[in-house]
Amino acid sequence: PKLVVTNREGETSEIEVEDGLTVMEAIRDNGFDELLALCGGCCSCATCHIHIDDGATDKLPPMSEDEDDLLESSEHRKENSRLSCQIPFTPELDGLKVTIAEED
Ligand code: FES
Repeated sequence: PKLVVTNREGETSEIEVEDGLTVMEAIRDNGFDELLALCGGCCSCATCHIHIDDGATDKLPPMSEDEDDLLESSEHRKENSRLSCQIPFTPELDGLKVTIAEED
C-alpha cells in the first residue's frame, strides 16, 4: 500500500509501505529525517507529529490518552494531528495522505 507524504518544504512524495510498519517507521525509513521520532515509537517524544490530510482521521484507530497528552504539548497541534508512531499502516489505509508537522 501507498502512503503520500508532504514534508516541511511542501514537497509531496508517494512511498510504498511494507506490511507491519507504523506510519512513523514508513516515513523515517524513506529518508525523511525531519521526522525525528526520537523515542523510537514508544509514545513519549511527540517528534513524530503529523497532520492527516483530506479528513481521513476517521479511518484511523482512536487516540490513546498518552497520545492526546503528548500532542497537547505541541504548539502546532490541530484537529487532524496524530503521532505517526501510533498508527499501524494497514492495507485499508492505502493512499493515506499526511503532512509532517512543523518543528516545535
Ligand atoms: Fe516518539 Fe512517536 S516516535 S512519540
